[in-house]
Amino acid sequence: MRSVRIALLTLAVVASALAWPAASASPGGPGGPGGRDVDAGRSHRRPQVDQPLRDLTRGTRLRIGTAVDMDALAADATYRDRIATEFNSVTAENVMKWETIEPVRGQLNFGPADELVNFARENGQQVRGHTLLWHNQLPAWLTQGVASGDITPGELRGILRRHVTDVVSHFRGRIYQWDVVNEVIDDNANLRDTLWLQQLGPGYIADVFRWARRADPRVKLYLNDYNVEGINAKSDAYHALAQELLDDRVPVDGMGIQGHLGVQFGFFPAGNVAQNLQRFEDLGLETAVTEADVRMLLPSDGVKLQAQAQGYDTLLQGCLLVRSCTSFTVWGFTDKYSWVPGFFAGEGAANLLDESFAPKPAYQAVQATLALGRPD
Ligand code: XIL
Repeated sequence: MRSVRIALLTLAVVASALAWPAASASPGGPGGPGGRDVDAGRSHRRPQVDQPLRDLTRGTRLRIGTAVDMDALAADATYRDRIATEFNSVTAENVMKWETIEPVRGQLNFGPADELVNFARENGQQVRGHTLLWHNQLPAWLTQGVASGDITPGELRGILRRHVTDVVSHFRGRIYQWDVVNEVIDDNANLRDTLWLQQLGPGYIADVFRWARRADPRVKLYLNDYNVEGINAKSDAYHALAQELLDDRVPVDGMGIQGHLGVQFGFFPAGNVAQNLQRFEDLGLETAVTEADVRMLLPSDGVKLQAQAQGYDTLLQGCLLVRSCTSFTVWGFTDKYSWVPGFFAGEGAANLLDESFAPKPAYQAVQATLALGRPD
């Protein structure tokens, strides 16, 4: 009972804190005339946004990004316009993954990814590359070939080397950060038991970074994973892995924390996120929040939306509290196109804007925090 009351009190305090900067940024908008309105359910329907997120990062080192769904980009003008106005960094949600790049062995399909890179150039945006090596969204010819024994470990290493070289070379100079290896540590903080580990042994991680560096000497090369936002066994394992790779002179430049959160799980406080990022910075690495979203059990309500705002804000504040944090990317920005309902039964509403592109409290929280981080 007591903890419930404390939690509610915390929410109320956060809610009123959030209402203030939004009110000052937008007199007619959220929390405007009428004063401090902490009713999240109502405030998220107010459409007025007078300072796009990317404008709020002007003069700072931070880039604000989103994952982009290429089908939505082609079909939905509002989606497209919003990406252009709100963000100065984009990540391919799917089209740079191996199953899209090489659906048929030996036939490279860079078309959709090139479209994104061109869109980004037209809109003055940088591109994060995602991802060179993962255990999901691999082409069937590869997984089936390995499973049947048609592709031997030696051959697989050659295939991986060629993939990394081809892809990084193709985008050389047009991508600023690559997620080189994605989710290579599991939830027990061990190297993930994937076909890569089984076939190639643990040395594949260093190999992939070295091949990527050879193909583009300037792009920043990142580790990337989920559940590593704060200090825990999994982020400890990443810290140890990063240290080991650096000791071996492997060209690792950055640590990416995905940031897939849920209001039902609670969040690391911003200070803990910052401490975690700081220890990677202390190794000489850059850091980034690469895939932020904060899901909830449906239906959403005012309290969940307010808690969600806090979730986004802890990640963003954690990022802004350290010098090394280069980019804050959300994994989609509207509930209209979100991977969450398809992957987590009964959950959704994970993004900054609702299905009609109206800002939710989370959007206002991000706006307010970015505004605070701006130079005077
Ligand atoms: C997800 C995409 O959003 C979905 O569209 C796709 O079906 C599956 O992958 N961690 C990652 C991302 O690194 O690549 C995942 O993206 C979400 C979890």
